[in-house]
Parts: sequence; structure tokens; C-alpha cells
Amino acid sequence: MAPRALDGSADWPTIQVDLGDRSYDIEIGDGVLDTIGQRVAELFPHSRAVIVTDDNVGALYGNRVRASLEGSGIEHATVCVAAGEPSKSFSTLEDVVTQVLDAGMERGDVLLALGGGVIGDLAGFAAGIIRRGIKFIQVPTSLLAQVDSSVGGKTGINTAQGKNLVGLFNQPQLVLADTSVLDTLTDREMRAGYAEVAKYGLIDRPEFFTWLEDNFEAVLAGGSARAQAVATSCQAKANVVKADELEQGSRALLNLGHTFGHSLEAAVSYDSQRLVHGEGVAIGMVLAHEFSARMNHCGPEAAERLVAHLEKVGLPTRIQDIPGQDFTVKQLMTAIAQDKKVERGALTFILTRGIGESFVAKDVPDSAVREFLELKLTH
Ligand code: GLY
Repeated sequence: MAPRALDGSADWPTIQVDLGDRSYDIEIGDGVLDTIGQRVAELFPHSRAVIVTDDNVGALYGNRVRASLEGSGIEHATVCVAAGEPSKSFSTLEDVVTQVLDAGMERGDVLLALGGGVIGDLAGFAAGIIRRGIKFIQVPTSLLAQVDSSVGGKTGINTAQGKNLVGLFNQPQLVLADTSVLDTLTDREMRAGYAEVAKYGLIDRPEFFTWLEDNFEAVLAGGSARAQAVATSCQAKANVVKADELEQGSRALLNLGHTFGHSLEAAVSYDSQRLVHGEGVAIGMVLAHEFSARMNHCGPEAAERLVAHLEKVGLPTRIQDIPGQDFTVKQLMTAIAQDKKVERGALTFILTRGIGESFVAKDVPDSAVREFLELKLTH
């Protein structure tokens, strides 16, 4: 991580995602949003820009982005979609593509994905297919998007068969993560994003997990601790993506807690009143640690330590914490079997030998998962 001075007024932590000729920077800090015009002008001289955003984020930050673009003399247009997961659909993708083309955007122009994970995934996918690929910058405005979905190039939409089953690996040319915009998130959204921050400690950074145990309140509150947590998370993700960009092996570590978590999201039919993604990941990470103990990869203390931390943060840790849960093992197993982590019928899980010692476990017996879930649904 190297400091980068812009305008001589601030030092932004900058992380490089090192992918050869597709390398890019992640610039992190309070106020980085206002540098967007300058950064577009530097990276893509003489280009125009199209902002793709949603109605919530557009109302909050659209004018600031447009003012920054105008300050640098950049012509721009805005495409606004409805906020929420249903916008990750073929029909919204068609709307976005149509509006970007109608706005006259050419191959040398740049798309700015201004929003949370839904916008990043949808707009990043659109950028990858419009005119066979136009440039794009991720401008993530949720904690979850800043530490996970905006980095690493996964883009896509949902279909009737499941989430993220149609999409592209499409790396952005820059990520601008303004940590001050997180101030407008609800407490619930902040905590849900925090689950993905904690995930990096659990994967392979035990010292970061310990730091989070001591500093989580400051991270949630904002300021330098938050920027440090976002930067450490982005550095961790950049390292994983560099090692395995296309998820042939070790990138799957980023799915820690996600197979169980996705099954819980599916079981509530993606009803965000009952469970949002990060909450599913929090419960899923606990289940992954408990299942690892049951499979004798570690003792029970790793899951106990994780539960203690997530409870202090205010995240759910048990399936029973999901309001109105009446799930069956069959229902959860069906969702697990449809997960993308299934290879020729064998289940792949991210398991652990302890805090910060996760590993990819292939060929996990279906029967072991079933028995474990039976236990968890009755206790
Ligand atoms: N969110 C998991 C990944 O980017 O691979």
C-alpha cells in the first residue's frame, strides 16, 4: 500500500491490483469521489463518461460526480435504474445497454458504476458487452462493494436459476472507494458489509482479525480506522485475485461462508427484510467454522471466538437468528447443490484449521453436510 497525493491536499491509500496489462489501482479515502473528473481526464483523455447508478445513490451522490466531471470538462450522461437486487436482471441490463448506446457512448468512452454491489455487477457486465467492451471505473458506495464486489472483475446478473449465473470476468480500469460515503448507510448495511471485512482475517490474516476485535467500533464509526480496514481488505482481495484471477483454485477462498450463506438467502427467497447477503455470510462463516470442527480440522474455539466477535458487532450468528426461519435440511441442501461451487456433483467448501487458516476442501461428502445441517436446525 503506497500513499498517493492528489492536489497536494490528501494522501489516499492506493492498492494496486497487479494483473499485468489489466492492472489497476484502488484509491481509498474520505473525499476521493470528488477526484473522479481528474482521474477520468488522466486515464482516458478526451473521453466522455456515462454514470450508471440507482435512484437512491444517484440522488445522494450523482450531483457530486457530475460536478467533478464538469470541473474537468468531461461531457457526461446518467443512466439510473431502480435500487435493489431485482435490477440484476436481463431486462435491466437491456435498459442500461440501450440507454448507454442512445447516449452515443463510443468504445473510447468510460462507464462509471456508481453504487453498491448490484450496480457494480450490472454496470460492469454492461461495460463488458457494450461495443465488445468499453472502459469502466467502479465507484462503490457500500462497504460490501468497497471491500469485495468492486474489486476483482466479477460482474453479472441473476436468472431464475440462481444468483450471478450469467456474467463476465471484466476488470475495471480504476476503483474509487470514498469511505465517507459510507456515512449514509444504515447500521444494518454497515454491519452486513463488515462481515466481508472480517472474512479476510478469517481467510489468512489472523493478525487482522485480532485488530478487528480491538477496533471494530472505530471501523463502523468511520475515519482512519474505517479507511484502514477497507485498505487491508482490498489488499487481501488483490493478492487473492492476482494469484487466481479466474477462480481456478485459490480464489475460491473468498467464498468462505458463502455456500452456507447463499443457501440461507435462497431459503428466504432473497427477502432482504429477513436476511441480507452479509448477514447470510456471517452465519455462513460461523457454520463453516463449526463444520470444520465437526470434520476434525480444528477445535471448537475458532467458531466460539468468531461468534463472540460477530455478536459484539451485532451480526446474526445462528440460523435461528433469521426471523421466521422454518427451513428444512432438504431445502438448504437443494440450494447448496445449485451453488456454483459444485463441480461434477461433488461439493466444494471453504473450511478452516483455525482463525486465519482457511483452505479449499473438495469432495466434501454430501452426507456430512446433511447431518451437520440436521444438527444445526434442531439446536
Ligand atoms: N466475491 C468473491 C470473488 O470476488 O471472488
